[in-house]
Amino acid sequence: MLSFIVAFDPNQGIGIRGSLPWHIRDDLKLFKQNTLGKNIVMGQTTYENLPRKLTDRKIFVVSNDENYHDDEVTIIRDLIPFLQQHQDDEEEYFICGGASIYRQSYPYCRKAFISFVKKEYEVDTHFGVFDFDDWYITREDDYDEFVYRELVRRQR
Ligand SMILES: NC(=O)c1ccc[n+]([C@@H]2O[C@H](COP(=O)([O-])OP(=O)(O)OC[C@H]3O[C@@H](n4cnc5c(N)ncnc54)[C@H](OP(=O)(O)O)[C@@H]3O)[C@@H](O)[C@H]2O)c1
Repeated sequence: MLSFIVAFDPNQGIGIRGSLPWHIRDDLKLFKQNTLGKNIVMGQTTYENLPRKLTDRKIFVVSNDENYHDDEVTIIRDLIPFLQQHQDDEEEYFICGGASIYRQSYPYCRKAFISFVKKEYEVDTHFGVFDFDDWYITREDDYDEFVYRELVRRQR
């Protein structure tokens, strides 16, 4: 199964200059809780700009760069076949961004874990494709700086 996990602001802003626009400790804790022991998939830009190493997760990095190697991760050169191959797996794969990876993966994801950041931030990167009509909410928790929601895709 494919799920995506993201934090976005009221304009679906997610990033600035390769990093997160904010530092929200509770959101980072939730990211850790949700992804520990799981498969996580992210673009090369997101991976290379991580503030610290992500341990105890199997990391897949999407890259077009044939010279790109990193012994700690599995490189995905072709994202769509990877998504098609894993969309019905029992095992969960968390799509962790950034924008280009969210956009391509969105149609394949059956679950979503979203921190709806309350304040607007200066951003240069947007999630862009999230539509509430595609989902129903299964969990909602209010934090100071964001509302955390878990969602499941509606069957049409
Ligand atoms: N708020 C959040 O929850 C959150 C989460 C994650 C990331 N972010 C933010 O998002 C921003 C980064 O997003 P981004 O879109 O610039 O970068 P990205 O999605 O992290 O990575 C883009 C990289 O992936 C490669 N790529 C994309 N699609 C591919 C495909 N189908 N096959 C092979 N390679 C592919 C691109 O290669 P090409 O350039 O050759 O296309 C590029 O090297 C950062 O600011 C980051 O902090 C925010």
